[in-house]
Amino acid sequence: MAVVISGKELAKSKKIKMAEEVKAFETIYGRLPHLAVILVGEDPGSMSYVKGKEKACQEVGFMNTTIRKPNTISEDELLAIIDHLNNDNLVDGILVQLPLPKHIHSEKVIQAIRRDKDVDGFHFENVASLYLKQPGIVSCTPKGIIEILDSISYPIEGKNAVVIGRSNIVGMPVSKLLLDRNATVTICHSRTKDLASITRQADILVAAVGKANFVTADMVKEGAVVIDVGVNRNLETNKLCGDVKFDEVEPKASYITKVPGGVGPMTICCLMENTIECYLKHVKE
Ligand code: GUN
Repeated sequence: MAVVISGKELAKSKKIKMAEEVKAFETIYGRLPHLAVILVGEDPGSMSYVKGKEKACQEVGFMNTTIRKPNTISEDELLAIIDHLNNDNLVDGILVQLPLPKHIHSEKVIQAIRRDKDVDGFHFENVASLYLKQPGIVSCTPKGIIEILDSISYPIEGKNAVVIGRSNIVGMPVSKLLLDRNATVTICHSRTKDLASITRQADILVAAVGKANFVTADMVKEGAVVIDVGVNRNLETNKLCGDVKFDEVEPKASYITKVPGGVGPMTICCLMENTIECYLKHVKE
């Protein structure tokens, strides 16, 4: 039987502490942190994520602007909105909810966000800072995963960490963060041969594949810590589910996160932390 780590509860207690800090900020610096979110189109997943971000801003006491635009918006129009927010001294963080419609060059849009307002940590300079161990904004999901491991005081150093997935948003940066904590990291992907034999070596198994029920019990070592990053929709039940077949993996793991209520809430919590980091830089300039 594993301990189920509640990202939801962890995020809740972190947000309560942040809210106290934010209250004091207003007195000290004369204004509140301000996060601007841009949502293009009506993808149900994106709409729900943005709602979660708005709710978190309210909970921690941030100013929040959400700019909603139709799918037909042109790249130039979107770039003009970002330019405007970049130049607004009262905006600390800018987040463009992904994915964007196909006619828009996502990378161009993301890179247009000023580095010091890039709360997602996707700007080339923030990415480079991560890989060169320089100060910078670290993307939210990988940061949240490390905070989850720290919440159980898990000694990462010297452990075998296996990450399934090599995306720029999760797989790659979380691998780097685990490496920085002196884990021995293996990154697996769709071309990996005999995946199960590798994942069975994992003391820490991070599943970021995007396939429902992909990780089964035979792929997990007894006593492993299993972190499920997947956000999938079960087509039969229409319910959210992760990448891990929870019911069969849970008895083998020592700790495990669940979907929903695991990594997701910590991602949003880290977005709030990143916004504070950008804000403090701005008010202290
Ligand atoms: N869509 C799915 N995950 C993310 C994320 O971390 N940031 C943004 N901006 N969009 C996303």
